Amino acid sequence: MKSSDYQPEACNLIIFGIAGDLARRKLLSALYHLDREKLLHDDTRILGMARLEMNPDDFRNMVMNSLVQFVGGNIDQTVLRRLMQRMGYRSLNFENPGEFNSLADWFGANDRHSIFYFATPAAVYPDICAGLHHAGYIRDDSQVIMEKPIGDSLESSKVVNDAVASWFREEQIYRIDHYLGKETVLNLLVLRFANALFTSNWDHTCIDHIQITIAESVGIEDRWGFYDKAGQMRDMVQNHILQILCLLAMEPPVDLSPENIRNEKLKVLKALRPITRENIAKKAIRGQYAAGFIKGQSVPGYLKEADANTESTTETFVAIKVEIDNWRWSGVPFYIRTGKRLAMKQSEINIHFKAQPHNIFRESYPELPPNKLTIRLQPDEGLELQMMNKVPGITELSHIAKNRLDLSFSESFSNKRVVDAYERLLLEAMLQNQSWFVRRDEVEEAWRWVDRIIEAWELQGEKPDSYQAGSWGPTSSISLIARDEREWDE
Ligand code: BG6
Repeated sequence: MKSSDYQPEACNLIIFGIAGDLARRKLLSALYHLDREKLLHDDTRILGMARLEMNPDDFRNMVMNSLVQFVGGNIDQTVLRRLMQRMGYRSLNFENPGEFNSLADWFGANDRHSIFYFATPAAVYPDICAGLHHAGYIRDDSQVIMEKPIGDSLESSKVVNDAVASWFREEQIYRIDHYLGKETVLNLLVLRFANALFTSNWDHTCIDHIQITIAESVGIEDRWGFYDKAGQMRDMVQNHILQILCLLAMEPPVDLSPENIRNEKLKVLKALRPITRENIAKKAIRGQYAAGFIKGQSVPGYLKEADANTESTTETFVAIKVEIDNWRWSGVPFYIRTGKRLAMKQSEINIHFKAQPHNIFRESYPELPPNKLTIRLQPDEGLELQMMNKVPGITELSHIAKNRLDLSFSESFSNKRVVDAYERLLLEAMLQNQSWFVRRDEVEEAWRWVDRIIEAWELQGEKPDSYQAGSWGPTSSISLIARDEREWDE
């Protein structure tokens, strides 16, 4: 798509849950930036909805405060005025379909197609769909955007997906995984399929193993109630990590069309080797943070967080050895780990290439380190290739050393603003491009694999391993990879 094609048609954007954390933190700032970049059609109108009674002034203040907090101090007043002119607010009880009729004046006043954004817990999606249907607002060209988590298991995700599918066709449904909107995640496709160097060296003949780390230093941020029912496996692995893994492991799609990309991702998910009660001890470990220090500040353990159930066995850390049973990845493990309250916020992928079969430099360098490609997803986005070079000097004929080719995106593209994932995904939805949204069969295949691991942990009946906040996770995660004579990159 050329940049001139990035002009969406006019639409009605209806956000359910506008007063919630996600909308205030991410959606409002995304809309502000899109409006500032002139990427919202002049006639696009936005309706925010929540249960809360808010008069126009309250609503305006809520939007303003959210923007100041999450966009920063420099709000362009012209853009803000334009955004406020296109926005309205209605209070609605989503569980009562009869109340949806009260929006008839808003919908009746125009003929634009509608995008319904569900930024509420998934349990409410079926009610919202029923209400929209009851009032006759769903048309053939309507779209729906759904937030994760879609269920907490294969079975419950099917219930949500079935309910939404009663009113919307799959081509109308946009399931968000915000990692698919991150610049560095999108760049994985460019790296792999726009560079011959990596297209031909990307398989079991050249790669020894791959590590994916998504580490966060934050804890569960006042979300104990939600998080404790989910845990890191459902919150991060089922979606973000598996999506990254798919982009790394999939075959080249024919093109960037939604079906071709998603078909290839699905094949990877189907090829994940199951982890069950029989092999879980060697393949997957889980942890829970205890008190510790983050950036010199003492922080409480998970069981001492506000509102905590002190008996909880929910995991806040997961490390897994993932194997993909297909031709390309035979014998190449993907080690994944993710956790809360780790030493720092850092998401990166490390591709460890195989060692040279024979070392002709052994006199000066007895063991040649293999090449390693580091993809820094966030922060300090960039790429780093570790390689061997000759050290310059007349007496240094075979003196070689390990160096790094480092591409920092902030330096190389210093005049470019880093676009937030939600801004990209909202725009793609307005352009009706499903490529960067997750299809139903992907969600379900991911749950199928994740469910077995959770079930195996339940059968094991052991508590998660404890780790100190501010560390890199429990020692069992080190043993997981050390068993294969490898170690985590830090
Ligand atoms: C969300 C999870 O999907 O992703 C959160 O629910 C997590 O628990 C967040 O903190 C991480 O996103 P990001 O963009 O900050 O890496």
